[in-house]
Amino acid sequence: MADRTGEPLSRRALLAGSALSVGGAIGGAAAVAAVAARESGGGAPAVPSSTVDYGGQMVPFHGRHQAGIATPAQAHAAFVALDLAAGVDRAALRRLMLLLSDDAARLTQGRAPLADGQPELAQVPARLTVTFGFGPRLFDVAGLVEQRPATLQQLPEFPIDRLQQRWCGGDLLLQICADDPLTVAHAQRMLVKDSRSFAAVRWVQRGFRRSRGMQDDGVTQRNVLGQLDGTGNPVPGSAVFDGAVWISTTDSGPQWLHGGTTVVLRRIRAELESWDAADTAGKEFAVGRRLTDGAPLTGRHEQDLPDFAAKNALGLPVISEFSHVARAHVTGDRQRIFRRPYNYDDPPGPDGTADTGLVFAAYQRDVGGQFLPIQRNLAEADLLNEWVTPIGSAVFAVPPGCEAGGWIGEGLLG
Ligand code: HEM
Repeated sequence: MADRTGEPLSRRALLAGSALSVGGAIGGAAAVAAVAARESGGGAPAVPSSTVDYGGQMVPFHGRHQAGIATPAQAHAAFVALDLAAGVDRAALRRLMLLLSDDAARLTQGRAPLADGQPELAQVPARLTVTFGFGPRLFDVAGLVEQRPATLQQLPEFPIDRLQQRWCGGDLLLQICADDPLTVAHAQRMLVKDSRSFAAVRWVQRGFRRSRGMQDDGVTQRNVLGQLDGTGNPVPGSAVFDGAVWISTTDSGPQWLHGGTTVVLRRIRAELESWDAADTAGKEFAVGRRLTDGAPLTGRHEQDLPDFAAKNALGLPVISEFSHVARAHVTGDRQRIFRRPYNYDDPPGPDGTADTGLVFAAYQRDVGGQFLPIQRNLAEADLLNEWVTPIGSAVFAVPPGCEAGGWIGEGLLG
């Protein structure tokens, strides 16, 4: 294999990532294996396990925004909701956030928090991020009701919902993401341990995506239903993303949340048995995009914009008005949401049916103005509803980030 200059590609160039998709024919892992095989004289590919230091990679904890939102999604996540204990007031909450921020600042940078019984486990940060969120009741507990964003309240129950209280609500969210499940488990244990005298765990939702290194970074991933999921998202770092996700001085609402956002977490069960039984055309019609490549039914490539006005020979819309993308589509950039979902796949229930779906996390400036209208549209009519059922629901305000020496929530509780 040679690059465009005709020079053989070195393994270094391949591993640097820039050349991984040369010709588009060979994916990253395959390309690395091919070069390794060539360099080892044919035979079985021998890729040194240390060629890419995924475990050593770190995401800065400090900054204007909390990490874990615009951060390219890591392979594993634990969403942990805590309920504050009776008697926890604003001063106690302040102490808790100081402690947890310190833990998170250390863990994300590969350092053990104070009094860590297993400090070696902190040495593989694997792009760990810890993102904190404040649930609606936290503001009552802290005596800060007037600082609660107006639309930060539990979502109304929709006709499609079959909510189970064990997946709903919560005062404080710890969103813990990393490319390694042991790193996530360790961070979760440390943070929960340090919260113990202030709060109790209400629920934990674990989720996964493809392991890092299985595909090139940045490609749209498939969810457990096999769909490319994330195509229509605003792109992190773009002006559209910033305008849709980060709360700024131009927004009404409490000042302490500038630089922050809100997150809605929906646990959505996928009825995989009947999804498996459906034919490809039916599945694609329900979503409005092709399963093979994620292209809209009116286009040829994944990133082609759906043409909702296009008609077929019978004069009917090519993308059904009841398809998921048609129902979820909004025209205003500031009405968009940013989806960062994880898959879950729990042990089957007593009847043997799969317990699988999405831990669906959506970020937006304003739950009421952005998430809610989309969710209402979907609940009213969305062909995908035949196979997906929301069983959990929670909302949190996500404070801005903090600088070194600061802590998350200082604008509200400081
Ligand atoms: C298990 C449940 C769900 C599944 C399997 C699912 C799957 C998908 C898929 C395959 C797409 C097309 C590709 C893409 O743009 O990512 C999509 C688009 C989208 N979904 Fe969902 N989704 C689910 C739930 C939701 C929910 C609860 C919301 C919000 C309330 C939502 C909002 C959107 C939006 C805004 C788009 C982009 C629409 C556009 O093209 O403008 N989805 N979803």
